[in-house]
Amino acid sequence: MLARVWSASIVGIDAVKVGVEVDISGGLPGIIVLGLPDSTVQESKERVKATLKNAGFAFPMRKIVINLTPADLRKEGPCFDLPISVGILAASEQIKADLLENYLFLGEVSLDGSLRAVAGVLPIAAAAEKMGIANIVVPADNAQEAALVEGLTVYAFENLLEVANFLNNPGRYKPVRFDGATEKLHVKSLDRADLRDVKGQAHARRALEIAAAGGHNLIFVGPPGSGKTMLAKRLPGILPTLSFSEALEVTRIYSVAGLLKNRGSLVCDRPFRSPHHSASGPSLVGGGSFPRPGEISLAHLGVLFLDELTEFKRDVLEFLRQPLEDGFVAISRTKQSVVFPCRFTLVASTNPCPCGYYGDTIQQCTCSPRQREQYWAKLSGPLMDRIDLQVAVNRLKPEEITQQSPKGGESSATVRQRVQKARDRALERFQSEPNLRCNAQMQSSHLQKWCQLDDASRNLLESAIKKLGLSARASDRILKVARTIADLAGEENLQPHHVAEAIQYRTIDRMQ
Ligand SMILES: Nc1ncnc2c1ncn2[C@@H]1O[C@H](COP(=O)(O)OP(=O)(O)OP(=O)(O)O)[C@@H](O)[C@H]1O
Ligand SMILES: [Mg+2]
Repeated sequence: MLARVWSASIVGIDAVKVGVEVDISGGLPGIIVLGLPDSTVQESKERVKATLKNAGFAFPMRKIVINLTPADLRKEGPCFDLPISVGILAASEQIKADLLENYLFLGEVSLDGSLRAVAGVLPIAAAAEKMGIANIVVPADNAQEAALVEGLTVYAFENLLEVANFLNNPGRYKPVRFDGATEKLHVKSLDRADLRDVKGQAHARRALEIAAAGGHNLIFVGPPGSGKTMLAKRLPGILPTLSFSEALEVTRIYSVAGLLKNRGSLVCDRPFRSPHHSASGPSLVGGGSFPRPGEISLAHLGVLFLDELTEFKRDVLEFLRQPLEDGFVAISRTKQSVVFPCRFTLVASTNPCPCGYYGDTIQQCTCSPRQREQYWAKLSGPLMDRIDLQVAVNRLKPEEITQQSPKGGESSATVRQRVQKARDRALERFQSEPNLRCNAQMQSSHLQKWCQLDDASRNLLESAIKKLGLSARASDRILKVARTIADLAGEENLQPHHVAEAIQYRTIDRMQ
């Protein structure tokens, strides 16, 4: 007899409907899987065989052909265990098959018949409506993840026997309800490291606020122990909290990467990813023969922090150039080609020279000019060009260090309110441009519309371009930063002091 069960596979962060057809016929006992299965799916036939026996079902001693459609799509992962098991049970008439069409099945099955959670359930659940599916059957541990999607009926079970009982008598089972993890949405980000703990460094704090308000990339340059890492870690805490749809967007990426910690809960906090400087290109931008999202996609809508930037391999940093500009990364492989979103704010930190003390007020720098030159040569011009805010972080004064409670140290919550207001102003301006979310994403045409300069501002910018030898891109970036500074001040037009402050954040151009 022939049975067909629906399941799905992930391509990038999107879902494709997969049909699992099971035919049982006379012939020598055996089981074959067709339709580009990878080795995990191949192994699934052995797992299913043992599972059915251990769960108390009969394993048909006949010829079983399992065909996965569409035939040209590579099927990978253990999520087909459950649909294959259900298909065999239906084809061997051990369960009722008349309602199978209405459900989509996902799940790994252990040898004792219990169901184990699989990665990528959220993108599949989110695409169910498009695939014409109204009901989904998943392992209990994936239940909340699937239930995040409105309008989808989710059934979740602990083991295969329960799934079989359900299919024989669906009326007796209730669908899963979402338990309201979204209410925790705004709570967690408040527990983060707070700006209140940072002493002094008013200049760097201001830069952090501008970066948050406009989504600008930022680099801190300064001697060891001045607080660069400490400041960078506080950026996610002053970014506006994720909206529900943004949280879903981030959660989809984490779901595909198999990184959802509590299956079921949304990723409610802005991501903060801090890869080590030994990271390889593919781990940063994504890769593998079946591409997985890399650090830049895991930082989507959040912060990618590259601490000790000069320690990263140069060719690895070069990978960042295109994604920084486009907000997505396209990965082509012979077997598959996918696109992952990656709109993140880049924050980097570095010492000003190999010994770390160039320009320091107390400690003498021991590096030769040549050593310093080689050190900076590691960071290519094109990468630095994409960093809007270059900020010198100097060592704290002794009296600042010994302060008991930092003076004037605003909390992250206070700064976040100002950031939110500035972002709201920008969004109001972008009403006719739904793809723009923050000032840093503006293109040249937008600058002409929204960053018009008066004569005094234009003269200021021109002399900065001459003195610092700025590229056209760097000057565009100054305009974007000036726009954000004006938004923070609640002003409609760019003033010379907005442009002047924006020019100040070209520390590195000024050092060279
Ligand atoms: N501005 C500051 N306010 C309060 N504490 C600070 C400040 N700067 C540094 N510290 C203290 O010094 C520690 C080290 O700071 P941090 O790691 O941020 O330095 P860094 O600039 O990143 O140094 P390195 O260049 O060595 O990485 C912090 O954990 C904190 O305890
Ligand atoms: Mg550091």
